[in-house]
Amino acid sequence: MFRYGVDYYPEQWPKERWPIDALMMRKAGLNVVRLAEFAWAKLEPAPGVYDFTWLDEAIATLRAEGISVILGTPTATPPNWMTQQDATILPVGKDGSRKSHGSRRHYCVNHPGYQESSQQIVRVMAEHYRNHPAVIGWQIDNEFGCHDTTRCYCPNCDAAFRGWLKAKYGSLDSLNEKWGTVFWSLTFQNWNQVITPRQTVADWHPSLLLDYYRFASYANVAYQKMQVDILRSVRADWQITHNFMGGFNDIDYYNLAKDLDFVSWDNYLAPHPPAAAVTHDLMRGFKPERNFWVMEQQCGQVNWKGINELARPGQVRLWAWQDIAHGADGVVYFRWRAARFGPELYHSGLLNHGAEPTRSYEEAAQVGKELAELKDLAGSRVANQVAILFDYDQNWATEIQRHHQDFDYVMYAAEWHQVFAAAGVPVDFAHPKADLRQYKLVAAPALQLVDAGLAAHLKAYVEQGGMLVAGVRLGCRDPFNVCFAEQPPGPLAPLFGLHVAEFDALPAPGQSVLGGLPHVVDRTLAVEFKGMRCEARLWADILRPEGAEVLGTFASQFYAGQPAVTRNKVGKGQAVYVGAAGVQLQGAVAAWAVAEAGVAPVVDAVTPGIDVQVRVSPSGERTLFVLNPTEMTGAVDLAVPGVDRLTGQRLVDRVTLPPFAVRIIRPE
Ligand code: GAL
Ligand code: ZN
Repeated sequence: MFRYGVDYYPEQWPKERWPIDALMMRKAGLNVVRLAEFAWAKLEPAPGVYDFTWLDEAIATLRAEGISVILGTPTATPPNWMTQQDATILPVGKDGSRKSHGSRRHYCVNHPGYQESSQQIVRVMAEHYRNHPAVIGWQIDNEFGCHDTTRCYCPNCDAAFRGWLKAKYGSLDSLNEKWGTVFWSLTFQNWNQVITPRQTVADWHPSLLLDYYRFASYANVAYQKMQVDILRSVRADWQITHNFMGGFNDIDYYNLAKDLDFVSWDNYLAPHPPAAAVTHDLMRGFKPERNFWVMEQQCGQVNWKGINELARPGQVRLWAWQDIAHGADGVVYFRWRAARFGPELYHSGLLNHGAEPTRSYEEAAQVGKELAELKDLAGSRVANQVAILFDYDQNWATEIQRHHQDFDYVMYAAEWHQVFAAAGVPVDFAHPKADLRQYKLVAAPALQLVDAGLAAHLKAYVEQGGMLVAGVRLGCRDPFNVCFAEQPPGPLAPLFGLHVAEFDALPAPGQSVLGGLPHVVDRTLAVEFKGMRCEARLWADILRPEGAEVLGTFASQFYAGQPAVTRNKVGKGQAVYVGAAGVQLQGAVAAWAVAEAGVAPVVDAVTPGIDVQVRVSPSGERTLFVLNPTEMTGAVDLAVPGVDRLTGQRLVDRVTLPPFAVRIIRPE
C-alpha cells in the first residue's frame, strides 16, 4: 500500500490540539506520521530518566484516526545535560576547534561514550514500543552528514581512522608505498603520525584524503548499523530507513542503504541543481530492489534558501506525483504545521502558524483522493533500459582533484540524465559494479578510479552485448588515487581500443586563460559528430585510437581533425568514448546510442524539462507519467494513445502540459 503522510511534532503543540490535527490528517488521506526524531530531551529529561507518556498519548491519538507511525531515533539531538557531562561528544572542525552545543547534529560518530548513549536510548525506545500496533518502522537519526557533519577531526576520529587504515593496509610500509608518500617527505614512520586531514599549509596528500573520505563515510554507516542492529534484535519485522539528502556527496549512500529495509530521502527544491527528476533516480539506485519513500517532501516555502519563495499553485501536487512517478511508495510532507518557535520559524507546513489549512493542505488532500483511486500503483516498479554509473569514489576523486573549478561529478552525471530524458528515455543510476545485464545501454561519466576487477566487469558487460558509453576523465587513476604508469584509460584501454594522449580544462567563453592574455582568444572547441557541430564545455580528452573507429572529430583550435568520439566493437557489444563534455555533444551521442542499442523511448518527442516516467505492475501493466515540473508550457508526443487515469480522457498524439500538469496515462 501507499504510505502517505506528514512529519509531525506533537511536542511543539498543546495536546488539546492533537485530536484536531489527527482528524485533519485523516481527512486529507494521510495514513502515516513520522515522530520524535529530535525529541531526546523530552524522552530522557535527565540521565536514565525516561518519559514516554506524551509520545504514547500522541501515538494513541493518531491511531484513533487510523494513522500509523514511523519513529525517529532521536540521536541527531543529544540533550544539554549530555554534552555538559562530556563535551568531547561535540565534533571538531578542520581547524581543530570544537563546535558548540546549540543547534543539532552536534556529535561525533566515533565517540565511544556517545555510541553507548545512542545504543541505550534506541534500546529503551525499541523495548517500549516493541508490541505497539501503530509503530510500523523507524527512521535512524536524521540526515547523516547534514550541516557538514560527516567529517570530524577529533582525537577519537584520529584513532579510529588509524584503526581503519591498519585493517586496510596491514603495515605502514604498504600504506606508504600504495599512496606514494615519498612526495614532499610525507613518509610516515609510525602510526601516530597519521592523522585526520586538519588544516594544512598546502594541499593534503590526495591518497590520504580519499581514504579519509571513505573512512568518514564508513564511520557514519557503522554508527547507523549499530542502531539498526538493536531495532532488529527487538523486532525483526520493523521497517527501517534513514532520510537521505539527494545529491549530497559526503556519505556513500550505497553503503548506507545496505543495512536498511528501504531508502527514503528529503526532497527539497534545492537552490542548486540537480533537479528532483535526477535525484529521485539517484536515490532509487541505492537500493534498486525496493521502492523508496520521500520522508520529507517540501510542501511550500522553506526557510534556509537565500530567497524563500512560495510554492506556486499546483506545485505541491506535482511534487507528490513526481515522487511516485519515479518509484516512491511513500510520500511524507515536511511538516504538519509551521513552527512558532525555533530556527525554522518561516518554514511552511500543511497548516500555517494560525492552524489554518493552506493551499498546500488542499493540494495534499487532492493527492490523497487521487491515490485512493489509483491504489494499484503501489508496488509497481520502475524498469528502465538505460543506466548511468554513479559512485562515491569517483565523486570524491573529482572533489579532491577537480582540475577545472566548475567540473562537478554529480552535475556531469546529471547532464547525461538530462540528455537521455530529452530523448524520451527514463534512466536508472547504478553502481559501476552492479549487475548491468538488464541494461541495453550504460553511460559511464567520469569513471576515473578503475582497477582490474572493474575493467573485467565492464568488459564482460560489453562482450555479452551491452553498449557502454564513457564520458571524459575515464580510467585516470587506481583506487589509491594514484595515476597509472600508462596513459588513461589504464586497464580500460583494450576495451575502448584507445588511449588518451592529452586532457584539457576548457574555460567558458570570456573566462580568462593562461594568466590573461592581452587580447581576446576564441577558445570555442567544436566537435563534429554525425554531421552535427557541437560545442564542448569544461573538459576535452584527445584520443589516440588503437583499434577504435572514429565517429566524431574535433573541429577547431589546434585540436582540429583529432578524434573526439570513438567506438570499439568487442564481442557482441560496443564501447564508445565521448572525449568532450557538453550537453550538445552528449545529446547528439545519446540520441544516436539509444537507436544503436535498440532502446525504446517511452514517448516520441518531449519538450526539455518535461518529466516522463513509467511504472510497471507485477502483472506487466504499464502506467505512463507525464509531468511538467516547470513554469513553462510543454508537450509530449505519445508513442501510443492512452487514457488519462484521473479524468478518463482518451489522449492521442500530442499532449500539451501547462505548468505543473500531471498526466497519469494507461497506454492502450
Ligand atoms: C531537513 C531536516 C528537517 C528540517 C528541514 C527544513 O534537512 O531533516 O528537520 O530541518 O530540512 O527544510
Ligand atoms: Zn570525531
